[in-house]
Amino acid sequence: MAEKYSRATLTRNFLKTITRIKKPDEMLDEAKSEGLEKTLGVWDLIILGVGAIIGSGIFAIVGIAAAGSADGSGLGAGPALIVSMVVAAIACIFSALCYSEFATMIPVAGGAYTYTFATLGEFAAWMVGWVLMLEYAIGFIAVACAWSNHFVQFLSGFDKFLPAWLANPPVWLVNDPFSAAKIVAENPDVFVPTLFGLPICINLPAIIMVLLSTAILVKGTKDSAKMTAIMVVVKMAVIALFVIAGAFYVKPDNWVPFAPHGAAGIFAGAFIIFFAYIGFDAIATAAEECKNPQKDLPIGIIGSLVITTIVYVLVALILTGLQDTSSTVPAAFLKAPMAYCMKLINLNWAAGLISIGSLAGLTSVLLVMEMAATRILYAMSRDHFISQRFQKLHPKFKTPHVLTWTVGLLSVIGILTLNLDVAAELCNYGTFTSFIVVCVAVLILRKTDPNRERPFKVPFSPVLPSLGIICCGGLMIYKSMQPSSSALLFPVWLGIGAMIYLLYGFVKNRKNENKIHIEKVEQRKLELKM
Ligand code: ALA
Repeated sequence: MAEKYSRATLTRNFLKTITRIKKPDEMLDEAKSEGLEKTLGVWDLIILGVGAIIGSGIFAIVGIAAAGSADGSGLGAGPALIVSMVVAAIACIFSALCYSEFATMIPVAGGAYTYTFATLGEFAAWMVGWVLMLEYAIGFIAVACAWSNHFVQFLSGFDKFLPAWLANPPVWLVNDPFSAAKIVAENPDVFVPTLFGLPICINLPAIIMVLLSTAILVKGTKDSAKMTAIMVVVKMAVIALFVIAGAFYVKPDNWVPFAPHGAAGIFAGAFIIFFAYIGFDAIATAAEECKNPQKDLPIGIIGSLVITTIVYVLVALILTGLQDTSSTVPAAFLKAPMAYCMKLINLNWAAGLISIGSLAGLTSVLLVMEMAATRILYAMSRDHFISQRFQKLHPKFKTPHVLTWTVGLLSVIGILTLNLDVAAELCNYGTFTSFIVVCVAVLILRKTDPNRERPFKVPFSPVLPSLGIICCGGLMIYKSMQPSSSALLFPVWLGIGAMIYLLYGFVKNRKNENKIHIEKVEQRKLELKM
């Protein structure tokens, strides 16, 4: 009986510990005492948002959303792509509103991880931090490799001017091992070195970009915001060029039939193009570096999402007006649809500029993704889940340089080893989960802490947060029902995260609590002696 009782007590204590929440005031105090430099204004935030959002989604994936996948396994939306764009944006806007409520209420680093700690407790916070690594760190690796692909494509356009080794670089120096294996399977003459039968690939452009992005981030958030701003201007300029130049050549006949695959095509398109909206949540992770978070964060988050939606709808209109997407499309359209359409109307120079714009777009996505990954890990280190060494700020630049370089170097290992198709899908899973959790967290904190000051409130709560949960949950279930490696790997990722928490994060946190307790006792003893 006694044993039973003690087991029950142990279980109760364990559950109490892992659901321990961290009070928002405690978070705000910590951030104040050891905070990062506050340099970001509202424009910096909008630029960060647009920088994080507009990337490979609109420069590459949009082709598949419109016309379906090349192997015919996925339906396309056709000209109804504009509807898919709006559906995906609506799924995001509910979460964006919830992010805004939290970001203004608890403007500290960490985004969804921090909000979960304030509402669902320690274990859930750890798991969200772990899942967010899928969105940002794995997403960072996937986008670095996409950058490399675009760069190689860009170089091949100069084959008349560049030496052959640069215009067509060796496959093993510009690919990940899995993509290289696919290329070799199609063309056995392609040389790829092997070790014990495994292909050895060093994706140099991706690795160089990761190291550059890391160096820029270490130099400073303001500097990376400036760098992102330049990239944003370049990509917006080429998108404007595409829309204006393309508008003169649109054939309204291409818009008929409007939805060749009906609602199924529209939703399939919305699911695919959802990737193009990922990134606005990264703004919230930089909350601690905002000059005026209460006012600026909601404008930054919602503003960048609205701007992006308008841009995407315009691109979708022109794209489907230039190319008939109701039947089979050329492979080149699926790879780089905007550049392809410019070639279609004989504006080759514009196609070249669009390639430059896509490189700029991907560069800014890279910078923001890496920044978000480091800011989440920074918050996790502050909470004693991971080493305190990551708290160290650079003496001159005031950025978490040890952490940033660690993320950079781990990403290089990821580039050398990961299967990127699966990585990109896992990135979507991470995003859906974090969006759902933030919507749930808003509902919980409204109940548990109704009197807390909320400079921004999600209107019509609980309806809008619930719609956010339904939309993102629906998309996630839709994806899980299709057989894919990522649908299997996501639960595996969650399982590994739970194990690490139990064996490392939980233990480390308890050690820290004991240390604080002993310090308090010693302090009390000293006071009594005096
Ligand atoms: N939204 C980002 C992109 O499209 C992830 O590249």
